[in-house]
Amino acid sequence: MAHQRVLLAVTGGIAAYKIPELVRALRAEGHTVRCAMTPAATRFVSPLVLQTLSGQAVRSELFDPAEEGEIDHIALADWADAVVVAPATANVLARMAHGLADDLVTTLLLATRAPVLVAPAMNVNMWDHAATRANVELLRARGVAFVGPEAGWLACGWEGEGRMASPADIAEATLQVMGPRSLQGETVLVTAGGTREPVDAVRALTNRSSGKMGYAVAREAARRGARVVLISGPSALETPGGVERVDVESAVEMRDAVFKALPDATVVVMTAAVADFRPAQAAARKIKKEDLAEEEGLTLELVRNPDILASLAEQPGERVVVGFAAESHDVVEAARRKIERKRCDLLVANDVSRAGAGFDSDTNAVWFVWPGGDVEELPLLSKAEVAGRILDRVEKLREERG
Ligand code: CTP
Repeated sequence: MAHQRVLLAVTGGIAAYKIPELVRALRAEGHTVRCAMTPAATRFVSPLVLQTLSGQAVRSELFDPAEEGEIDHIALADWADAVVVAPATANVLARMAHGLADDLVTTLLLATRAPVLVAPAMNVNMWDHAATRANVELLRARGVAFVGPEAGWLACGWEGEGRMASPADIAEATLQVMGPRSLQGETVLVTAGGTREPVDAVRALTNRSSGKMGYAVAREAARRGARVVLISGPSALETPGGVERVDVESAVEMRDAVFKALPDATVVVMTAAVADFRPAQAAARKIKKEDLAEEEGLTLELVRNPDILASLAEQPGERVVVGFAAESHDVVEAARRKIERKRCDLLVANDVSRAGAGFDSDTNAVWFVWPGGDVEELPLLSKAEVAGRILDRVEKLREERG
């Protein structure tokens, strides 16, 4: 996405102390950030800090000739590609809902035509109050996007919903409101990571998949406005903002989770490295050497796991299905055979033996293999870029099928 201009409106809540981190997160994405503050906000976080981190003058007064001389409030409202209100107090939500323009921040919010994202932060009882609920509903109905609040310990001493979303999640949600929205209305189901097949109470069979490719697809789909369900094997990665994650361990659990989410899905992208076999029996207790004869080895009997991707073809419903193929040799030929077997709409094949591709790498070199055998080779790209290319094709297929 091209670098964008974000107007960050800061209102007076204790969570304002996290805003310098948000400015850094937004700038790390390449955005230009300008901050506008309510007078109350300046008591929680110093304008000088925000000015230094944003590299731009900070505005807080509507009627200050010097501030207006630099950039007047209408020019500032027009300048923004997105307006982010963080933290958003109950008071600013009420003023937004009623269209008040009694300070710089609310005037900007009334004047802007850019998408608005709000990150509320307040005491749980203020958040639960009927007045706040009604204001939030009204703002949502007008198209204002929300991120958070989260539940947890609040600075006021109460526990409950009201904590501002993390700066990373707000930055991600900002990308989503500015994104192309080309997958709006779609539900994208993504499988990611490797599965873990229990051997006994403490051991498991697994593989080296990190989940990076699937998480990149999930993040990009959410940025394009889709509802995203990410079914993930064990992974150390953070859930991308706005994505619904379902954690599973074994292939059987993954299949059950996929089938549960399938009726809503219009797009399925199966990046997971599913174990093809599992131990016929998982011992409930730890297998102990002392139970074996001296020097005796251990033979595990493995049975086949269900092939989740192949079984999708039999499921009723219209959806675009993208499969992956991890190959270590004869990549293209193996992938051509695989797409016939798995009957998906696109197979993304990667050579896991190649440096800079496959498991745990941040980049990937893939081929798109189409039903019928047509092949397209992509250059070495970041997994985020590969995710974008896949979803471009998915969008085209959805369009062709009306
Ligand atoms: N897959 C699946 N269920 C399985 C095995 C694989 O859904 N039990 C999916 C993967 O998520 C991937 C595709 O099938 O989208 C191909 O996976 P891959 O491991 O390359 O192929 P396999 O079917 O396991 O075939 P092989 O290991 O023999 O190459």
